[in-house]
Amino acid sequence: MRVLFIGDIVGAPGREIVRERLADLVSTKQIDLVIANGENSAAGFGITPRIAEELFSYGIDVLSGGNHSWDKREILEFMPHEPRLLRPANFPEGSPGAGVYMGTARNGVKYAVINVQGRVFMASNDDPFRETDSLLASLPLDVSFVLIDMHAETTSEKIAFGWYVDGRVTAVVGTHTHVTTADERVLPRGTAYITDVGMTGPHDGVIGMDRVAIVKKFLDGMPARFEVAQGNVQMNCVLIETDDVGPRNGGRLQAKSIERVCLRID
Ligand code: FE2
Repeated sequence: MRVLFIGDIVGAPGREIVRERLADLVSTKQIDLVIANGENSAAGFGITPRIAEELFSYGIDVLSGGNHSWDKREILEFMPHEPRLLRPANFPEGSPGAGVYMGTARNGVKYAVINVQGRVFMASNDDPFRETDSLLASLPLDVSFVLIDMHAETTSEKIAFGWYVDGRVTAVVGTHTHVTTADERVLPRGTAYITDVGMTGPHDGVIGMDRVAIVKKFLDGMPARFEVAQGNVQMNCVLIETDDVGPRNGGRLQAKSIERVCLRID
């Protein structure tokens, strides 16, 4: 089984490269399931119903979120009606939507995608570690592929989380910093791991936003409007491969490999 995770899609340039490149990548690499983080896909801040539908139409099966999930008001009413659009599971009880989605991949394998958010240098949500424990305990036994998007600021919290769930899920991918880390590996008990997948969007700005305004903000500290950057658009992803009938751990498919994939428009 081959699963693609696309790192944080930022604004129109991020959506554009997904539209141009995803379908071809899915067919050449024979990908069974596509997951992406979409919390910055609306001009860098949040996601709208129209943009979520646009991204699904490009071949993304599940969209995860994070601290920017609620930036666009219209998503609050939409999210409960679109289970493929996730927000972190450890958000306060009563938040719209859900942090887990279960479906069937193109190869017939039942899967679950879980989205949690870290707490270091971020809002004080519920404990993502214990929230994950209870979600995993609630998954049906025939769900054999499980991927977690751990949306967090610090490398240490994501690395600790990877070890915590090693052997209990197929993959943990970090998102949120928009900078790809070079530490992808399969942990000893079979969980594919990367601290951050990086960003799908323009790389000639500051984590996707126009660099002039951001540099000015660091100099004068004044309130400012940030626009999406332009130029050097990349689509940063990881491709996770599992054995179809290989060793299973607690009913879950183990990862065989995790590989970084970086596509560019040029
Ligand atoms: Fe984020």
